[in-house]
Amino acid sequence: MKRMLAIVLGVLAAAVLSGCGGGNEGQPQPRVLAQRTVQAAAAVDYHEVVQQLYVAYFGRPADTGGLANFSAQMAALGAPVGIQDLDFAYTNNVSVRALIDSFGNSEESAALYSGDNDVFVTAIYANVLNRVPDAEGKAFWLSALNSGGLTRARASFTIMAAALVNSSAQGLLDAQLVRNRIAVARAFTNALDSQAEVDAYSGNAAAATVRAMLAGVTASSDPNAYAGIIDSLIVQLQAAAVPSFDTVRSVVQARCLACHAGISAPLGVRLDSDSGIRNRAADIHLQVVVLRAMPLGNQTGMTDAERDIIRRWFEGGAP
Ligand code: HEC
Repeated sequence: MKRMLAIVLGVLAAAVLSGCGGGNEGQPQPRVLAQRTVQAAAAVDYHEVVQQLYVAYFGRPADTGGLANFSAQMAALGAPVGIQDLDFAYTNNVSVRALIDSFGNSEESAALYSGDNDVFVTAIYANVLNRVPDAEGKAFWLSALNSGGLTRARASFTIMAAALVNSSAQGLLDAQLVRNRIAVARAFTNALDSQAEVDAYSGNAAAATVRAMLAGVTASSDPNAYAGIIDSLIVQLQAAAVPSFDTVRSVVQARCLACHAGISAPLGVRLDSDSGIRNRAADIHLQVVVLRAMPLGNQTGMTDAERDIIRRWFEGGAP
């Protein structure tokens, strides 16, 4: 019901705003209405546009923490909910601009889109629209960038927003591709439903793996067909992920403390504190993974999966 109201108010505000030329400074009435609207929008209402930001700037789905944080920030700012309005707000709302700039100026985005404006536009077309730019489109965006009317930080979001309302034959295909990728991105983030899965989708390697999956989604893909692909990708990410210290501590507690706690611990090897574990990361790895000598006689029934947790943790720098 609350969401319903937000949507209705949103439509109303959009109508009023467009009636007055887009909510210019010095138009107090529509601005007040817009303010009310945005306060009614909940963080969850921004999930779609946050996915659009991630796909536009990073070519990958939002991670769980980022989705929650950016959605909450936008709700707090009272940012417009839809991609067109949010992109427009870049021009007249300092906070929205700062937020979009934080995507556009990030290292991850710079790695995807580098080079002069020509190379830059070509890279955005490749990532966002999965194609080489047509001459007309390229000239249009290049002139916007070269004239300074469009900042590089805003560009990929604006190009995505424009694709979604372009009614030419190519535009319809572009829009379908963007929608399909957003749908798969949404499904991917939703599928991260345990802490271990959430943790597994972090870091550059995981980002690259998932970006490659999303790059395979085209205008003719069926997003629903990606459920199985997403599930196995998450399994793959978990297998490659560096386990958190919490995970390692719980393995040590279950498999080692029967002997390695207290003053009578063998050889003084005490693993009953975090520092005790951290300081002996190399020894633990040696005994558990390389020699498989510990747990002694495997009296505590350590599994191979648990040995693998120790291995990935150690190889990942024992965080
Ligand atoms: C059933 C008891 C027992 C369990 C369980 C056990 N250990 Fe040990 N651990 C020992 C004993 C006894 C020694 C001393 C072996 C020796 O004197 O050669 C030892 C020695 C060690 C050493 C020192 C090895 C050296 O030679 O410097 C490390 C490191 C170690 N254990 C790690 C672990 C880890 C990690 C676990 C859990 C995955 C574990 N142990 C589980 C009994 C155990």
